[in-house]
Amino acid sequence: MGVELETGWHVAVIGCGYVGTVVAASFARLGHRVTGVEINEEKLADLQAGKAHFYEPGLDLLLRVGLSRSLLSFTAVAAEAVAGADAVFLCVDAPEDPERGADLTSVRSAIAAIAPHVSPEQVVVTKSTLPVGAAEWVATTLRRETGFDVPVVVNPEFLREGAAVDDFLHPSRVVFGGDDVPALGRVEALYRPILDQSFESAREGDIPEIIVTNRASAEMIKYAANTFLASRLSLINEIAQICDAVGADIEDVAAGLGTDPRIGSRYLRAGLGWGGSCFDKDLAIFAGVAREAGVRPTLIEAARSANKAHRVWVFEKIATLAGSLADKRVALLGISFKPETDDLRDAPAVELAQRFIAAGAQVTAHDPVVKGVPDLPELAFASDAHGAATGADLVVLATEWDEYAELDFATLAPLVARRLVIDTRNFLDAPAVAGAGFEYHAIGRPGDLPHRGRPGGHTMPATAQRSVQ
Ligand code: UGA
Repeated sequence: MGVELETGWHVAVIGCGYVGTVVAASFARLGHRVTGVEINEEKLADLQAGKAHFYEPGLDLLLRVGLSRSLLSFTAVAAEAVAGADAVFLCVDAPEDPERGADLTSVRSAIAAIAPHVSPEQVVVTKSTLPVGAAEWVATTLRRETGFDVPVVVNPEFLREGAAVDDFLHPSRVVFGGDDVPALGRVEALYRPILDQSFESAREGDIPEIIVTNRASAEMIKYAANTFLASRLSLINEIAQICDAVGADIEDVAAGLGTDPRIGSRYLRAGLGWGGSCFDKDLAIFAGVAREAGVRPTLIEAARSANKAHRVWVFEKIATLAGSLADKRVALLGISFKPETDDLRDAPAVELAQRFIAAGAQVTAHDPVVKGVPDLPELAFASDAHGAATGADLVVLATEWDEYAELDFATLAPLVARRLVIDTRNFLDAPAVAGAGFEYHAIGRPGDLPHRGRPGGHTMPATAQRSVQ
C-alpha cells in the first residue's frame, strides 16, 4: 500500500463505528492527522491495537499503517481530538426510534462533548445519516452551547459494508451541503486527493462528481439514494416472483433490463431480499420525514413491505420444496446480511433460520466469518460447508460468499440425506450442482434451468457478475 506525505490537515472523528472507523483510517491514509473518539472501552482498546471490532476487508491494515505512522490515534476524550482539528466529523449512530423517527441520543452526547472545545474557525461535518433538518438543529444547538456560530457541513456517506474503504477512497460522487463558503472549502480540501484521485494507488480515470448544495438537499440525497436502491431491489424481487409463476428466467429478464442505459445493470440481483443496518432504517426514517412534511410516503412504505413479504415468499417456496420442515435437517450456507461482512443486522439469512427453526427444523449454518448468532442459540454452526451439509435434507444458500461458488457439490453429494439445493441468491453454478446429482432450485428461474447453463445471458460467471455490483 502506498503512503502519502503528511498534509498538515487535522481531523477529529467522533464515534468510531462502521462509518467513523473507515473515515478515520482512510483520511489518515491520505496523510491527514486523525484522532478518533470512541467511548466504548473495548472498541477503543481494539482500535488502539489496530483492529476494528467488525470485519471489513482492508480496514485493519489501514488502521495499523495509520497508527504506525503516528497519523492516526484513538481516544475516549473528545477534547483531545477537537483541540487543533480543522474539521470535526460526527459519525455517531442514529438508530430508528419507532416513536420519534430517529434516536438522536448519541448525536446529542457528541455535541455536548465537543461544544466546550470547538471554535468558529473549525467546521463540524455531519457524516452520520441524520433526518432531513438535523444539520440545522446541530448548528442551532452548537450556537446555544457555545454562544457563537460554528459552520456545519453535511457530507453524507455512501459506503457499502464489505467495500467501504474502496467506496471512501474511490467514490462515484462526493456531496457537500452547506452555505459557509470557507467551511465548504476546508472540507473540500480534506477530500482533495480523493476528488482529484491524486493519491498513490488512486484511480486516475475515476474522478468523482462533486455536488455542492444546501444542507437539506445533501441530507435528502442520502435518503433518496438508499430509497432508490432498496425500491429497485424490492421491484426486481417482485418481478422474480412473477417469473417463478410464469416460467420466465429472472436472470435473463434482469439482463434484458440492465442493458437499457436508462435502467442500468447494478442492483438488479434478485434473491432473498435486502437487509443490513441501513436500508430498512433509512426508509423508515425517510417515511417519517415525509409524513411530518405532509407527504404520503406510499412507495417508500411499499418498498419496505414488499421486502418483508418477499422474505416470507422465499421461505414458503423452500417449505413447499422440502415437503414439510418439521424434523428436517437444513444446511444454511451464509448468515451475514451480505458477503464480505460479519454484520447480522436485519440479515435475511437469520430471519430464514428463525422461520426454519419455528417450523421444527434443525438448522446447521456455516459462514466464512460469522460463527454464531447471539439471539438464536438454537442455530448450530459447523466449521465448514461440508460439516453443515452432513445429514442434511436440504442445502440452502442464503448469502453468496465467493467461497460457495467454489464448493464441489460432488463431494457434498454422499454426505447429505437428500440431494436438494435451494439457491436463494441465484449464485451457484446450476449445471454443476445438478451434475452432482442434486435437485436444484433458484429464485425466479424455471425448473429446467440446469440444462440451460449460466445466468445473465450465459456469458459471465455468477461471481464475476456479483463483483461488478
Ligand atoms: C447501503 C448502500 O449501498 C450504501 O451506499 C450506503 O452508504 C449504506 O447502505 C448506508 O446507508 O450506510 P450496505 O447496506 O452496506 O450499503 O449494503 P449494499 O451492498 O447496498 O446491500 C444492501 C442489501 O441489498 C444487501 O442485503 C444485499 O444483499 C442486497 N442486494 C444488493 C441485493 O439483494 N441485490 C443486489 O443486486 C444488490
